[in-house]
Amino acid sequence: MFFSKSSKKIDRSERILPEHVGIIMDGNGRWAKKRGMPRQAGHRVGAENFRKITRYCNSIGIKYLTVYAFSTENWKRPKEEVDALMSLFYDYLVEALRDFREENIRTRFIGDVTAFAPELQRLIKETEELSADKTGMCLNIAMNYGGRDELVRAVQMIAKDVTDGKLSAEDVTAELISSQLYTAGQPDPDLIIRPSGEYRTSNFLLWQSAYSEYVFMDDILWPDFTTENLEEALDEYAKRNRRFGGV
Ligand code: FPP
Repeated sequence: MFFSKSSKKIDRSERILPEHVGIIMDGNGRWAKKRGMPRQAGHRVGAENFRKITRYCNSIGIKYLTVYAFSTENWKRPKEEVDALMSLFYDYLVEALRDFREENIRTRFIGDVTAFAPELQRLIKETEELSADKTGMCLNIAMNYGGRDELVRAVQMIAKDVTDGKLSAEDVTAELISSQLYTAGQPDPDLIIRPSGEYRTSNFLLWQSAYSEYVFMDDILWPDFTTENLEEALDEYAKRNRRFGGV
């Protein structure tokens, strides 16, 4: 992990929690390879872990959790792996999302879900509708999501309004752009966690992460990521001095 310079001990009962946490659930493939298993097996265990960590975040009072489940670039993977991921999404959405509703979690999907099979799209819509009135944590599942793709889509919508004479170029502000993103109305992520030793953002919440704190954890792959690893990342976040460009 990239530790902050401060060695201050954090009292977890008094710690400032991030309102919005993003997680890049990375390392499923390597986890499986290390065990001589197909990559799909890593995704299956990763999906179980996603459920456990989501429940935990809700239980400790995180208000928004955004997980990166499938990027706009992940279609480039072998068909076998993509198919396995799609059927995993389907199975787990049926089962896990029922449980999340019982736990008062509101589930939303960010990304271009129109690319998915009609049954998966139907399930996505149903899940959003059935959990819309939940008052606990808001879970955003990023599926067929890419930060650049999201920005292109926002710019196209704004450009159309300018062409139609509904807006002038001067009306285009950062707030207007934010309002055209999948995460419209939500706070930007305070903390983004990436396990698995990769130190990049991989097109995740590009606009929204302008002032996010990153915690890269290099000694853990997503299927092994525990609630204690999450706690360590939250401790690290609590030590950071956020200045948002000020002093
Ligand atoms: C990145 O690891 C992970 C993915 C591309 C898929 C993440 C999906 C899940 C954890 C399942 C989530 C399920 C639901 C229902 C939301 P990788 O395959 O790139 O791993 P590698 O870098 O070791 O190859």
